[in-house]
Amino acid sequence: MHPPQWIAAWVLLLHGCATGWPLQGTSARTSVRDCSVDPPYLPPTATNTTARLAALRGTMRAHSVHAYIVPSTDAHMSEYIAERDSRLGWLTGFTGSAGTVVVTQDKAALWTDSRYWTQAERQLDCNWELQRTPWIESIGLWILEAVPAEGNISLDPFLFSIDTWNSYSQALRGSGRTLLPIETNLVDQVWGDQRPPPASGEIYSLPAAFTGSSWQEKVAGIRQQMKQHVRRPTAVLLSGLEETAWLFNLRGDDIPYNPVFYSYTLLTNSSISLFVDKRRLAAAARQSLQASCPGPLCVELWEYGQARAQLQYYAQGNVTIWLGTEYTTYGLYSIIPQEKLLEDSYSPVMLAKAVKNAKEQELLRAAHVRDAVAVIQYLLWLEKMVPQGQVDEFSGAQYIDALRQAQEHSHGPSFQSISASGLNAALAHYSPSNQSSRKLSVGEMYLSDTGGQYLDGTTDITRTVHWGVPTPLQKEAYTRVLMGNIDLSRLIFPPNTAGRVVESFARRALWDVGLNYGHGTGHGIGNFLSVHEWPVGFQSNNVPLTAGMFTSIEPGYYRDGEFGIRIEDVALVVEAQTEHQTGEKPFLTFEVVSLVPYDRNLIDLSLLSPEQIRYLNAYYETIRARVGPELLRQQLEEAYGWLQRSTEPFPLGSAATTVAAATTTLGMLPLASLLSVLLTRLQA
Ligand SMILES: *[C@@H]1O[C@H](CO)[C@@H](O)[C@H](O)[C@H]1NC(C)=O
Ligand SMILES: *[C@@H]1O[C@H](CO)[C@@H](O)[C@H](O)[C@H]1NC(C)=O
Ligand SMILES: *[C@@H]1O[C@H](CO)[C@@H](O)[C@H](O)[C@H]1NC(C)=O
Ligand SMILES: *[C@@H]1O[C@H](CO)[C@@H](O)[C@H](O)[C@H]1NC(C)=O
Ligand SMILES: *[C@@H]1O[C@H](CO)[C@@H](O)[C@H](O)[C@H]1NC(C)=O
Repeated sequence: MHPPQWIAAWVLLLHGCATGWPLQGTSARTSVRDCSVDPPYLPPTATNTTARLAALRGTMRAHSVHAYIVPSTDAHMSEYIAERDSRLGWLTGFTGSAGTVVVTQDKAALWTDSRYWTQAERQLDCNWELQRTPWIESIGLWILEAVPAEGNISLDPFLFSIDTWNSYSQALRGSGRTLLPIETNLVDQVWGDQRPPPASGEIYSLPAAFTGSSWQEKVAGIRQQMKQHVRRPTAVLLSGLEETAWLFNLRGDDIPYNPVFYSYTLLTNSSISLFVDKRRLAAAARQSLQASCPGPLCVELWEYGQARAQLQYYAQGNVTIWLGTEYTTYGLYSIIPQEKLLEDSYSPVMLAKAVKNAKEQELLRAAHVRDAVAVIQYLLWLEKMVPQGQVDEFSGAQYIDALRQAQEHSHGPSFQSISASGLNAALAHYSPSNQSSRKLSVGEMYLSDTGGQYLDGTTDITRTVHWGVPTPLQKEAYTRVLMGNIDLSRLIFPPNTAGRVVESFARRALWDVGLNYGHGTGHGIGNFLSVHEWPVGFQSNNVPLTAGMFTSIEPGYYRDGEFGIRIEDVALVVEAQTEHQTGEKPFLTFEVVSLVPYDRNLIDLSLLSPEQIRYLNAYYETIRARVGPELLRQQLEEAYGWLQRSTEPFPLGSAATTVAAATTTLGMLPLASLLSVLLTRLQA
């Protein structure tokens, strides 16, 4: 799936490719609101927000607030949020994942990017203006117009990152208006007992078989980094939910698709404080955290709500607190005196988590083998069912979810399945719903972008298929997207190269003929954590690529109103075997760990270079060696046959044979993957 939406640069790029909310069966005229007629026309999908707004405005008056800003995220800057944190959704009726709202006494407006404009017109009532841009500058200008000088502009400081706070502060500077944080959330006050209750599921320890190292080892590693840092920080503050989950090898289910739980951690040179709903900790988890109490490896348990007070107390000492500014909220940041802060974009925990050790790599590889089984079963099923006209986008998505669920160690999907047929696939973020779901047909291309959570790993894979006769343009575009995927996957590059430096290799085959795509090329991924894991990827704010990182590689091509193509694999950054060496560290390359063949029906072999064909054949050999035995183990003979057919080696053209075999196909395969090929053969 694409990188997260809160990356502004990416949202901007996407403007070209997303045009709206797909409709089927309903005419566009009646499915969106019309506020220009009297009385206004509201579709049944719109929410009447009159009473909620009136209540919020009452609370605002009580607090002397002239404008109140409501974001779409939670206190941890999570990409996915729990229903309980969907304040913007409750207040407006708009359920898109990205947006900002500002309410004054007589106006109310929603800002969102182009992916969500049509959806907003269907869900908002006429109390709301829709502002068709996501930029804070635009919000600032609107506020200056709507709020008189001397006015108070307020927000909940625990829902805004440091950077976002600074942007608002900048936008209002010198205007006479005050940006005033209010710690009571005014929407929550109004929401009252209608607000969904806090999560109550158990918080549990991952079995040792599924962890890369013990939490004690992880803590020691972070403390080591604190000691070695020139500023000698005395503590690290963790706000990201994945940070705490990873550090302590704990998981929960507070947020859909992400196995995390509400928490903060303050890890100091001599103590560890975990802020969490203590009652929800499984007995074994509590035992593991408190086995060496008292002492530097004793985890002190505090209630989640005590984080702020404890941080304030700690910050009174002679201390230096290290934190990641990308996802720490202004509410916590503002407690710490400036001279006691050590600010980096990402905390050392976030960076350590991004580089998987040998065991974590093996776990992620293993998850991808079982995941491939589910996807292969799905592709086989589609091949049989679609010609009978029995499958639509929604039922397809349900079926792949069920196939994954049946695999060992499954914990459900890692994001809402994208299942898009024909023109719907041109909307890069389309997910079908119960109400709007297109029938799959042999006359159209179909795109399936799905992923799973397993105890050993998180997966994310996109395949695009066509069961009939693709048009020449579809075939060429698909082949060029594939060439981009191959060219980036087989690239050898110097250590510490930034992803953005190499990402154009994924676009070159498209650029050659004037084609392109409007989204990022990849994102990090976790071990039973987030499907979009920071800070790995190919964008300008990602960290340099290092051996042990996992990233998706996902070029695409989208043709408005016609079709969409994306080919996405997850790949591990590994050391490359090169003839020569420059510098002390070996060059790097990728080992693709997603193991599902591409659609032969859409590949125009004549466009591929001999190197690309060799690469593809080697990849297919790996798929056979790793997934074949697993299919047989699960007694899926028919799927095994499908796999064999779909991974037949491609013939090398006459040009190919004359090219010197300087880089043999197997030489391209990283050693680790060769080893696992051999191991799987031995086990089979
Ligand atoms: C919306 O709700 C308010 C009361 O909460 C009511 O007065 C109004 O008529 C409703 N508007 C529509 C369009 O139904
Ligand atoms: C802004 O808020 C402050 C603090 O609550 C209050 O003292 C002040 O009167 C407010 N300003 C206006 C113009 O209401
Ligand atoms: C704070 O701690 C540092 C390092 O331990 C020390 O050099 C400095 O003197 C301390 N400052 C105060 C005011 O105690
Ligand atoms: C931890 O940091 C505090 C505050 O600077 C310092 O006083 C103390 O000596 C340190 N403890 C250890 C074990 O390093
Ligand atoms: C689909 O929607 C109908 C009514 O809108 C509902 O009865 C049904 O349970 C829904 N099915 C699923 C799978 O959500």
